[in-house]
Amino acid sequence: MAKTLYMWFHETGEQTMKAEAEVMPSDYSFKQTHLIGLAGYSADDIRFVLQQASYFREVLNRPVPKLPTLRDKTIVNLFYENSTRTRLSFELAQKRMGADVVNFSSSSSSVKKGESLKDTIRNIESMKIDMVVVRHESPGVPQFLRRCVNASIINAGDGAHEHPTQALLDIFSMKQSVGNIKGLKVVIIGDILHSRVVRSNIIGLIKLGAEVVVCGPKTMIPLFVQEMGVRVSHNLEECLAWCNVAMALRIQLERQQGGLFPSLREYHETFGITMKHLERYPDFTVMHPGPINRGVELDNDVADSDRAIILDQVTNGLAVRMAVLYLLSGRRDLG
Ligand code: CP
Repeated sequence: MAKTLYMWFHETGEQTMKAEAEVMPSDYSFKQTHLIGLAGYSADDIRFVLQQASYFREVLNRPVPKLPTLRDKTIVNLFYENSTRTRLSFELAQKRMGADVVNFSSSSSSVKKGESLKDTIRNIESMKIDMVVVRHESPGVPQFLRRCVNASIINAGDGAHEHPTQALLDIFSMKQSVGNIKGLKVVIIGDILHSRVVRSNIIGLIKLGAEVVVCGPKTMIPLFVQEMGVRVSHNLEECLAWCNVAMALRIQLERQQGGLFPSLREYHETFGITMKHLERYPDFTVMHPGPINRGVELDNDVADSDRAIILDQVTNGLAVRMAVLYLLSGRRDLG
């Protein structure tokens, strides 16, 4: 009989964590086989992933932070775009769970000789893989892979579409640091137009009952965003006075197509969070998905202050990715 996660915990004498107060409906079962985006997950699916992530977060505090529940799985990390946090934490999560891991980087592969995405993935599939973690600059690539590959697909960021594990780790971190998501006041500041992080966060936070405001220059806030159930503001002071959590987004210089704001200095003066803001509004928590443009979205001292939970987000990302890998591997028999 396959071991359940519950059995692994109890075999090692570990107490299960009760950090998550979520009580899942008695008839709930997790039926997802891919993670393309949070748009395809119900509020209960999101709650369930977060609940399981709290088990894995506890594993990370052990002297030997391993749980070899994916020993029979082979996972490919298919990264067509640069990444530090997402790629390393997926790889570490897979290794901590005992999976066989293959890393693919487009810059050192036969993509450079002109091989198509479809041919690349069909060749990788022939090596008998179970799961694919994919990051790509084009929105829709994870969906495309889902149709042409017999493996579980996890979206690690597709263009400006979604970055679901980032939103899950952000929501997990809010819950851990601030409390219940229902009724939580969250402002997301910056480049809303180009951000897959903001789309996934809005979808997840609204499903869980948070109030969300997006704040930034008019040129960086698309019209459709209000249809997602958020309010729009261009006044950072008002937002910081109101919110429990302020999440600053990276200005994506590589995706800017000219002139969305006059200069980085002016952006910082209008939308950057400074130490003066922390002093004036003593209650909000600072988040950032990384990488930070220091001195643009956040002052250096703000990024390093005890009001910022940016490195906790990274640690929690490991636990969230372990939970996602575990659940999508077909192991849904948790205690
Ligand atoms: N937050 C995030 O996705 O960071 P990386 O691009 O470094 O993975």
